Amino acid sequence: MLVHIGKIVHRKMVGKYAVPAFNTSDLETTMGIRRAAEALNAPVIIQTSVGTLEYAGMEEIAEIIKIEARKAKVPIALHQDHCKDFAIIKKLIDLGYSSVMIDASGMEYKDNVKLTKAVVTYAHKRGVMVQAEIGRLLGNEDWQDVKSGEDLMTDPDEAAKFVAATGIDTLAVAVGSMHGIPVDPRIRKILAKTLKEHIDLPRLAAIRKKVSIPLVLHGASGVPDDQMRAAISHGVAVFNIDTDLRVAFNKALRDNLKKNPQIYDPRKLLAPATDALQKMAETKIKLLKTNGKAK
Ligand code: G3H
Ligand code: ZN
Repeated sequence: MLVHIGKIVHRKMVGKYAVPAFNTSDLETTMGIRRAAEALNAPVIIQTSVGTLEYAGMEEIAEIIKIEARKAKVPIALHQDHCKDFAIIKKLIDLGYSSVMIDASGMEYKDNVKLTKAVVTYAHKRGVMVQAEIGRLLGNEDWQDVKSGEDLMTDPDEAAKFVAATGIDTLAVAVGSMHGIPVDPRIRKILAKTLKEHIDLPRLAAIRKKVSIPLVLHGASGVPDDQMRAAISHGVAVFNIDTDLRVAFNKALRDNLKKNPQIYDPRKLLAPATDALQKMAETKIKLLKTNGKAK
């Protein structure tokens, strides 16, 4: 069923388990996520990026997600990921999104507060939750491209001040995860040494001490499992996952094309890729201990 995000992301779950926020851009991804959630009796968030709204059409993709969610036997919430445009946010609220992220993290602190506060006032009047970000994640996602040196880890004191000043419902933090697959050779070199992204757990713990609202970890693809689990115990209630699903889909699609050059029916080309995406979503659901949490 399609539910308000507040039904599946709330303070009571913090520290115990987390909910995945999977990005979608099309019907196949949405179906794969919905099937994974149903197979494991898990609540999930399905989110759109601004790039997806442009690719699929705002009304069209919102409708696809709402239809898939309504027919699901588990709770599914609709959320807008990284958006810096207030006008788009207003339209999405009209379309039934129960949660939006206003991402003014590229702005000066005071401008971030000003815009975020305005969105919170508008959204709360309409019963919609708001996520915002303090700090800046390394990497590339959608309209954002934060290069090495431009990234900014979240400062715990600033985070607490920001939450109090804006009244947001969930806070996205930058604690070492990165968006997407690194294309910057310097970042590839850094990651090659550690092999994986590295979460600054002491920083996360310090943020948690000062911030009581649920925390959101963006760029969760590529984060080692043990660090994901540790992040849950430090207050991360939502993990944003996109790249891992895309990679699983891509690999299966390419294999299928290679093995079966005679297939020209798009459904037969896409079905194994959707299955692979579903499997990856199930792996993440189990990792976050979301399985069995649909009431
Ligand atoms: O907002 C979406 C996410 O932060 C996705 O990041 O592609 O690294 O999983 P990811
Ligand atoms: Zn993100």
